[in-house]
Amino acid sequence: MSDKLYIFDTTLRDGEQSPGASMTREEKMRIAKALEHMRVDVIEAGFPVASPGDFESVSSVAGSIRDSVVCGLARALDKDIDTAAEALKAAPAFRIHTFLATSPIHMREKLRMEPDQVVEQAVRAVKRARNYTDNVEFSPEDAGRSDPEFLCRVLENVIDAGANTVNIPDTVGYNMPLQFGELIRYLIENTPNSDKAVFSVHCHNDLGLAVANSLSAVVNGARQVECTINGLGERAGNAALEEVVMAVRTRQDIFPCDTTLDTTQIVNCSKLVSNITGFPVQPNKSIVGANAFAHESGIHQDGVLKSRETYEIMRAEDVGWHNNRMVLGKHSGRNAFKARLAEMGIVFDKEEELNAAFSRFKDLADKKHEIYDEDLSALVADAIHNAQQERINLISMRAYSETGEMPTASVTLSIDGEEKHADASGGGPVDATFKAIEAIVNSGCDLQLYSVNNITTGTDSQGEVTVRVDKNGRVINGQGADTDIVVASAKAYINALNKVMENCERTHPQV
Ligand code: KIV
Ligand code: ZN
Repeated sequence: MSDKLYIFDTTLRDGEQSPGASMTREEKMRIAKALEHMRVDVIEAGFPVASPGDFESVSSVAGSIRDSVVCGLARALDKDIDTAAEALKAAPAFRIHTFLATSPIHMREKLRMEPDQVVEQAVRAVKRARNYTDNVEFSPEDAGRSDPEFLCRVLENVIDAGANTVNIPDTVGYNMPLQFGELIRYLIENTPNSDKAVFSVHCHNDLGLAVANSLSAVVNGARQVECTINGLGERAGNAALEEVVMAVRTRQDIFPCDTTLDTTQIVNCSKLVSNITGFPVQPNKSIVGANAFAHESGIHQDGVLKSRETYEIMRAEDVGWHNNRMVLGKHSGRNAFKARLAEMGIVFDKEEELNAAFSRFKDLADKKHEIYDEDLSALVADAIHNAQQERINLISMRAYSETGEMPTASVTLSIDGEEKHADASGGGPVDATFKAIEAIVNSGCDLQLYSVNNITTGTDSQGEVTVRVDKNGRVINGQGADTDIVVASAKAYINALNKVMENCERTHPQV
């Protein structure tokens, strides 16, 4: 019988450390619910001491996730560990993940600590975390560049102190698959109490090897992989969850273990994370790219038609492609709507959010005959924004363009309950609309990215717009969806401005 491989998802923590990928509490909750629905074992919900906003997000996730363990990151400091425990306390099962660097360069230059002091502080941190939970993970940061003998000493001590998961990070993405696999084997064989803990890995993708390194570690005894949806993460990102999970599932002849994930949720999760963060998925990305299962050449198409296995090693439906079906129409009722959302893993905490989503669904069904799962995900996001008490709300707008004329837009917003109106002209109707919004809000933001995607096919498809703005170095994304792409653009811009108004300074875990 094969062992279990635990999947620890850190999209909400390391993933959020990608510049520009910051997420609101509500967005993190949506991703956490999708991860739980996919049966991820551990969800690292954030770094609670980083900011009050991070604390709130972790405690909201802890309060609503039932089937996955919720984890919070903490440096090996009393304050971090106590704050993490406080944020996590509502979760039925929670883990504290504490870390301290062990590589010579980090100990000397960053921590200015001697190796003995590092061992002492790591042990103290694990013991403190054990006062709150019996589920404690310790990471020797920059393990990939640490002395293996010293690592064994650190691991032995933290396992004795009560860590039941020890995670080996290749923090700077420096390792090579063969070498990293050998390191994991060495650590398991040379840490005297290694049988008392699950060995985990956390690989960064600086040399494009995060997934390869993680898989090599699994072959050599690791039984937890830390990863993120779409490989999001600090710098070049972390190991992509979808690639790790499908490699292990597809090559059961090589791996002596498997995950218990519902892989049919992978594409949904990927789209959700891409939409929320504004990080597009490249078409040729494995598993979740739009072309991952598309066969262009005649020879391939012919082969696949004769026997799918000639050119396909996985079934598209096993990762959630082709789930998209026409689900509901104009005459569908509230219960059918609610039931379909539940099947997609979307459950509302508040009745007013469900009502707002249902009313958006009815409006959409008037404009668009066929409503697909993707339409539902987009309108749910939109309805949640509407149901929240946002400071800026779109009351009405009109955009006008004609060949040979300067496009114009008129926008009416409510700001903190007060109605305000502005007209503007611009290079196109979207530009004019953004200028009209700016004439009212005067946000001082720089627009860094504007992108439109059609959610389904056809000219009646909803357009999903992502904008990224920069305000004094803080980078924020906004999203909006509508069958009218100028309205979707206005919604996305207003969504970003609402986030800018929420102040959230934060500490970086590695600083
Ligand atoms: O990359 C890293 O070392 C980390 C640790 C906090 C596990 O993210
Ligand atoms: Zn990391």
